[in-house]
Amino acid sequence: MSKYYILFGPPGAGKGTQAGAIAKQYNLKHISTGELLRAEIAAGTELGRQAKELIAAGNLVPDSVVEGMIASAFETVKGVDGFLLDGFPRNISQAEDLDRMLEARGESVTGCISIMISDRMIRERIQHRAAIEGRADDASDATVTNRINTYHAQTEPLIQYYKQCGKYHEADGVGTIEEVYKRITEIM
Ligand code: AP5
Ligand code: MG
Repeated sequence: MSKYYILFGPPGAGKGTQAGAIAKQYNLKHISTGELLRAEIAAGTELGRQAKELIAAGNLVPDSVVEGMIASAFETVKGVDGFLLDGFPRNISQAEDLDRMLEARGESVTGCISIMISDRMIRERIQHRAAIEGRADDASDATVTNRINTYHAQTEPLIQYYKQCGKYHEADGVGTIEEVYKRITEIM
C-alpha cells in the first residue's frame, strides 16, 4: 500500500512552501498540478496554450487535463512510499475521480491535510509573492479575487467530502513556516 496525502488549502495558504520538506521527510512524490501546468505553459505545449488563459483569469482548467497529469504520475513514478498531492483534487468531481482511480489500483486516500488561513491573509501572502515569483495569476486583484471565489465555491466543499469519510485534518496556517510544518507532521 502506498500513501496518498492531499495537501489542501486556499490559494497562498503555504501548500507549495510546506510540500518539499514534507515529501522529503516521508519519501513521497510531491505533485503540484499548478506547477505542472505552469511548466506546460513555459514549454509552450498545446496543453499549456489551452490552460494559459484560464489560469491567468483565476479559473480552473478542465478536470480531464489535471486528471491526466495525475494518472500519468501514478503510473510512472517509482521508488517512493507514496504521493503528496498539492492543488488536486480541487472540486467534488475530481475527488470522486481520484477515489475511482485509487480504487482501481487497490489503494485509497490516506488523509486530507488542510492548511487554513483567512481570505485577508490569502491576499497579503499573494501580494508578497507577486513581487518575488511573477506568477501571472498573482498579478491583478481581480484574478486573486476570482481565485478566492473559485476556492469557496468549488474547492471548499471538499472539506465536507473528506470529513464524511473521517479523512479530514486541519492545520492552522498562521505562524512561522516551521510552526506550520510541525502542525502538519504531527497530523501525519
Ligand atoms: P496552484 O498553483 O495550485 O495555486 P493555488 O492553489 O492558488 O495555490 P498557490 O500555489 O497560490 O499557493 P500555495 O498554497 O502553494 O502557497 P505558497 O506556498 O506559494 O494553481 C494555479 C492554477 O492552476 C489554478 O488557479 C487553476 O487555474 C490551475 N489548477 C491547478 N490545479 C488544478 C486542478 N486540480 N483543477 C483545475 N485547475 C487547476 O505560499 C504563498 C506565499 O506565502 C509565498 O510567498 C510563501 O513564501 C508565503 N508563505 C508560506 N507560508 C508562510 C508562512 N507560514 N508565513 C508567512 N508567509 C508564508
Ligand atoms: Mg502552490
